[in-house]
Amino acid sequence: MSKTTTNNQPFLTDVQELRKRARTSLEKGPITPDYLGNVKQTIDILQAVLATEIVCVLRYTMNAIAATGISSEGVKAEFDQHAKEEQGHMRQVAERINQLGGSPNFNPEGLATRSASQYVEGANLIEMIKENLVAERIACEHYRELIRYFADKDPTTRVMMEGILTNEEEHANDMHDLLVAHEGKPMLKTHA
Ligand SMILES: [Fe+2]
Ligand SMILES: [Fe+2]
Repeated sequence: MSKTTTNNQPFLTDVQELRKRARTSLEKGPITPDYLGNVKQTIDILQAVLATEIVCVLRYTMNAIAATGISSEGVKAEFDQHAKEEQGHMRQVAERINQLGGSPNFNPEGLATRSASQYVEGANLIEMIKENLVAERIACEHYRELIRYFADKDPTTRVMMEGILTNEEEHANDMHDLLVAHEGKPMLKTHA
């Protein structure tokens, strides 16, 4: 006897039924009838995430080249590392848009408007670090919200965003630590 839920629906879809359904709507690729999200809305959301990631790649790359001053070498290396990781995020998000049947928007026109984080260059090393911290904090809050939104509507996109969020939190922490090191004072309140 198969397990049933309280409303008498089978707990798992019958294998024969799964096989039959998989053969219909092949043009939808991985989007099967049990996809609970709104594909168009998911693509729109991911286009904004893509723009945010592209802006992050540009900002960190610019910073890695332009950073000057005493002990800037370590900071440049950190900016470079982040630029590479942001590029990884950009690629992941673009691939997901493609999987969902969308076309990733890399158009430079309107990029800054589509992005959640801003492109602020920062006049000196401290300003650069600060602006990166601000951008990472925007990404963290935005992505956390998206993870809650995707929930089980689209687990693949949610898991991808969870991975990216983990990385953005590391970035924010790195920028925070650099700020402390270069300003010479603690910024975070310590919690007992
Ligand atoms: Fe990122
Ligand atoms: Fe980041």
